[in-house]
Amino acid sequence: MDQPLRVGVAGLGTVGASVVRILSRRENALGRGGRGIRLVGVSSRTRNRDRGIDIDRCAWFDDPVAMARSQDLDCFVELIGGSDGVAKAAVEAALDAGKHVVTANKALLAAHGLDLAKLAEKRGVALAFEASAAGGIPVVKTLREALAGNEIIRVSGILNGTCNYILSRMEQEGLSFADCLADAQRLGYAEADPTFDVGGFDTAHKLSILASLAFGTEIDADAIYVEGISSITPLDLKMADDLGFRIKLLGVAERSKSGIEQRVHPTMVPKDSAIAQVMGVTNAVTIDADAVGEITLVGPGAGGDATASAVVADISDVARGRVGAPFGLPTARLDKLKRAPMQRHEGGYYVRLSVLDRPGAAAAIATRLAQADISLESIVQRRAETPNDDPEQRSHRAVPVVLTTYATSETAIRAALEKVIADGHIAEAPQLIRIERE
Ligand code: HSE
Repeated sequence: MDQPLRVGVAGLGTVGASVVRILSRRENALGRGGRGIRLVGVSSRTRNRDRGIDIDRCAWFDDPVAMARSQDLDCFVELIGGSDGVAKAAVEAALDAGKHVVTANKALLAAHGLDLAKLAEKRGVALAFEASAAGGIPVVKTLREALAGNEIIRVSGILNGTCNYILSRMEQEGLSFADCLADAQRLGYAEADPTFDVGGFDTAHKLSILASLAFGTEIDADAIYVEGISSITPLDLKMADDLGFRIKLLGVAERSKSGIEQRVHPTMVPKDSAIAQVMGVTNAVTIDADAVGEITLVGPGAGGDATASAVVADISDVARGRVGAPFGLPTARLDKLKRAPMQRHEGGYYVRLSVLDRPGAAAAIATRLAQADISLESIVQRRAETPNDDPEQRSHRAVPVVLTTYATSETAIRAALEKVIADGHIAEAPQLIRIERE
């Protein structure tokens, strides 16, 4: 009988503590029929904190890099987070020392995934990262293994639980952005720095991993167009509702004529679409592939136990001796990603303008759009909250005007809005949200 796989966990935050709990609960079940798994070491910033877990039986390391190099370890589990610094140093040290690595660190993979995969390949060890994208949903395995017989055309979805939680609660309970974010932090969904969530960067990190697996390309997070949700206002959510949409932060990676388009931005989706039904911390990933067609995976995208479920699955794979190419292909066979510029993107747009309440303003805006050959699908002007009979006073206040367009290009809508701004009819920067109807 093989010796058990000796595991060390670095980082005992929400996810790390859950991993320790699951490993101790499922020690026997995980080992059934194969090599056992034993937690032998832990490392974290503070030792004497009550995490509700028993770590007395394993070695404590103040320094995760020292644990990564320890001779008593076969598999290093990195749950520290961050693209550089100690997480990177520890993962490199572990791989270099010939240890398998399991990580949930999407920021690290987005920035250094290719180099780390090369190092793992050189040492003949695993670099496993199921937990890095979409929390508990097994989407990495799905793309890398289950869909190996397919050419992938598109991967898209809701990849950040915090943003979906915030947008859902703002829409359904009328709560403020700040209150919803505070709750997401309290529930352990948000990143240590929540700007990564609400700024769209966490979604971009995850999308870069999925795109590499889907298209057999070198991971390239810099090629992703990123917009977050912080500019979404209660009025946008209300207008979306009135127009038959919900707003979701989507990540989309797809093959196009000009290359691979990768984008992250708030998106209006029809209220009756499948993606619009995904609420709260739930994530959903839709994969369009040539042989199988369309597959959607839905599940918890954040939170300790859900993410730990994916981490433990990777540890279990390592224990079974599954050491494949991290991104599905040997690194030398991954293509360079050919980036499709965002300006080429085509689709419908929601545009919200704060228009100065004076004669001809709305007509001038419509004219600018017509000149750019942009066809309006709808136009709504909201009455100002307080009536005012004085045209001079009215001309200094702004009223919301919301337009939706039929399909046009990013270049055309941006150029038209530049002209609208230059005409001086609006009081603040336009709000632009892309519409996806499928
Ligand atoms: N902060 C992330 C989220 C955690 O909200 O989805 C999972 O990666």
